[in-house]
Amino acid sequence: MARVAVVTGGTRGIGEAICLALKEAGFTVAANYVGSDERAKAFTDKTGIPAFKWNVGDHQATLDSIMAIEEQLGPVDVAVNNAGITRDGTLLKMSFEAWKEVIDVNLGGCFNVSKAVFPGMRQRGWGRIVNIGSINGQAGQYGQVNYAAAKSGIHGFTKALAQEGAKFGITVNAIAPGYIDTDMVAAVPPEVLEKIVAKIPVGRLGQAHEIARGVAFLCSEDGGFVTGSTLSINGGQHMY
Ligand code: CAA
Repeated sequence: MARVAVVTGGTRGIGEAICLALKEAGFTVAANYVGSDERAKAFTDKTGIPAFKWNVGDHQATLDSIMAIEEQLGPVDVAVNNAGITRDGTLLKMSFEAWKEVIDVNLGGCFNVSKAVFPGMRQRGWGRIVNIGSINGQAGQYGQVNYAAAKSGIHGFTKALAQEGAKFGITVNAIAPGYIDTDMVAAVPPEVLEKIVAKIPVGRLGQAHEIARGVAFLCSEDGGFVTGSTLSINGGQHMY
């Protein structure tokens, strides 16, 4: 039977590309989303991948939803923590809510989903957790103390959980995307984005499928010796 993979923030952008890549690799995929029901329905109609609505920043909702997915599709062997939001602004202008929301969703979501799937993976002796970090968690970014802290936290989380999972056949890795052509990056003011792209050695934004291929590798049998690592996919913008 096909292994089940859950991808958070899976109905658009990088998450959608990851869902498609994992489906193509033979996984039964479940996508999580929190925003538009209409867009999620369009995603399911187009891909045949079911979408489950909950806020990954909500601990109990995450435990309940993963349980519902497992009842419907079977035990979750792969979790891709991709859901992420931005609330950019300099520290002087950043509200406590903008700080907390980004930490709760981007970093808290990673904890909540891992907490829900890890015990089963441990019991079955096989698992893949891939956390989507960011170049901005590695290098920092003006106007993103919340996002950079959460993403940097994801990189530490990955290395810690990798140590806990190793002897149970569970690999835990991160991918650190650079600037990828998605709605999130499109929200950066054009004059700011232009300056950022000028600093990318390959001279362009990345494409979502270029992140998804990396995730598919880390989730494969061949990825079994890779754990606690961070794969940077950023066009050479930050060599870490
Ligand atoms: N380094 C140094 N100084 C900078 C700077 C930088 N990178 N960016 C702006 N400044 C300076 C400006 O020159 C300006 O200086 P003066 O007042 O002396 O002229 C000052 O900071 C204020 O800048 P803004 O007018 O831009 O301030 P703002 O409050 O209107 O906007 C901002 C600040 C919201 C952070 C805006 O600059 C912005 O959106 N920046 C982009 C942030 C970004 O890259 N986000 C990434 C989103 S995509 C993502 O996160 C995905 C991923 O993982 C890669």
